[in-house]
Amino acid sequence: MTGWRETLDTVADRTLVTGYTTLGFRLRERWWRPLEPGSLDGRRAVVTGAGSGIGKAIATGLAGLGATVHLAVRDLGRGNAVREEIGDQVPGADLQVNELDVATLDGVHRFAEKFLADHGRLDVLIHNAGVLPQRRTESPDGHELALATHVLGPFLLTDLLVPALRAAEDAARVIFMSSGGMYTQRLRDDDPQYNRGRYRGGVAYARTKRMQVVLARMWARRLGGDGIAVHSMHPGWVATPGIASSLPGFATAMGPLLRSPAEGADTAVWLAASAEGDRASGQFWHDRAPRPEHCLPGTRETPAQRDRLWTFCETATGVAR
Ligand SMILES: NC(=O)c1ccc[n+]([C@@H]2O[C@H](COP(=O)([O-])OP(=O)(O)OC[C@H]3O[C@@H](n4cnc5c(N)ncnc54)[C@H](OP(=O)(O)O)[C@@H]3O)[C@@H](O)[C@H]2O)c1
Repeated sequence: MTGWRETLDTVADRTLVTGYTTLGFRLRERWWRPLEPGSLDGRRAVVTGAGSGIGKAIATGLAGLGATVHLAVRDLGRGNAVREEIGDQVPGADLQVNELDVATLDGVHRFAEKFLADHGRLDVLIHNAGVLPQRRTESPDGHELALATHVLGPFLLTDLLVPALRAAEDAARVIFMSSGGMYTQRLRDDDPQYNRGRYRGGVAYARTKRMQVVLARMWARRLGGDGIAVHSMHPGWVATPGIASSLPGFATAMGPLLRSPAEGADTAVWLAASAEGDRASGQFWHDRAPRPEHCLPGTRETPAQRDRLWTFCETATGVAR
């Protein structure tokens, strides 16, 4: 991107309503090259939380480019219905439905063991599953739910699937679906389980979305030598069942300005399928461009804090690398 386009893009990014809504997407998509049809032929992808919203749209986008897509869902009935729905939109789509509750460590182990036994190779892993808890609840393993869903489950899943990612056809990609909400929070390595202070679901959500961005960068460094690129991104503000139930007032106020799920999914599909997704590993993306990781004072973490988070994740998930 050069000159006026870059300026326009940056202005849209900083003025949230322009950048995060469908207006930002429609402005920027004029500058993009369409993805190459068949660019994911022969590739295998896993999308967590593929039973609705952005995850379903990512799965549709990947299947449309030729990938075999595993819909990793909690509810197999919903997964099967989505498989049919995507099959109608993408004739010949190769879709598999697999059970995965990413908030339980046992569930992640079960999924990964079966996946490795059945396939042994993975090209694209998309950590999309997300929750915005209304009150503090814990996973069956005793971890705060947003942490379990956005951080610990994906941490363990990434770790267990590294052998399959190493065996990828070309450069493998791992993508964390974070949120622009993470800008509001600093890294809380001092209280990852949100035990202190009054619990607010939106804060828990944003803290764990910040952790995803930090961990994606750390994974990128660790896995770069294995030819595995790792990214985080945010989708903008997207009309999904999740936003309608978690933030009904916001969803109503934004109305038609919200993005479609396909618009929210676009950057994940692009990172999975384009050459750019192989370069510039470790960045935080939105609308096919790297974005700053901080825009508020006091949100920058130190290397020691990052290391503390990493060690916490290793201990909490039982991973020792
Ligand atoms: N919509 C937005 O504006 C927006 C903005 C920023 C970031 N995001 C992020 O985008 C991602 C998708 O959100 P969405 O808006 O599409 O919401 P959504 O429609 O609620 O989709 C979330 C999906 O995650 C699944 N999920 C939740 N917990 C899970 C678990 N433990 N194991 C497996 N799957 C689980 C849900 O499955 P069930 O049906 O089983 O509950 C659901 O299919 C989330 O990570 C969210 O934080 C969304």
